[in-house]
Amino acid sequence: MSDLIHLGSVNERPKAPRPEELNLRFSDEAIAELDRLKTHYPNLKACILPGLWIAQREYGGYLNGEAIAEVAHRLHRSYAEVEGVATFYSMYNTAHAVGKHMIEVCTCLSCHMCGAYRIADYLKEKLGIGFGETTADGVFTLHEVECLNACDRAPLLQIGPDYHGPVDQAYVDRLLDDLRARAQSSVTQLADDIVKVHLQPADRYSG
Ligand code: FES
Repeated sequence: MSDLIHLGSVNERPKAPRPEELNLRFSDEAIAELDRLKTHYPNLKACILPGLWIAQREYGGYLNGEAIAEVAHRLHRSYAEVEGVATFYSMYNTAHAVGKHMIEVCTCLSCHMCGAYRIADYLKEKLGIGFGETTADGVFTLHEVECLNACDRAPLLQIGPDYHGPVDQAYVDRLLDDLRARAQSSVTQLADDIVKVHLQPADRYSG
């Protein structure tokens, strides 16, 4: 039997729980954050995006059907509406559960020209997984992504809130060791950072 965690098709959609099955998991802090965010927007529909970031953090980096249903419930929107938003944006993880660290490899033109696929192949060999897969220990997920808008650092990787580039095989070796030693998930760290940005007072951006 393969050591890999086999993931669902990227087209697989989160399943909606029945209302009687709803198991709300937001922490008190998350509920308070959502309440504050509601005051930043003219209506609850506009709060779906930050609400989903809170959910991605609270549910360990993956928006399953329960996470989407909880956002819909707390914002008084339909499940279909929230699911439509969550599955539209690639930064929300809806296709499958992800590992503690998601390594995103840019293979767009500049990175491709600077050896992105050599780095991708090295990562695949070291981790024993392909794109869209997670290691059996649940630590790493590997994804291929489009341009991350830092082409001067090609070949570039994104891990949580951090960019790494230009990278070579020696850098990748050090990076994987560093990530294995970290206690915190970089996937939920990114979600938390984005929630904190949303919570900034609106007047921070004016003038
Ligand atoms: S092509 Fe990789 S960051 Fe732009």
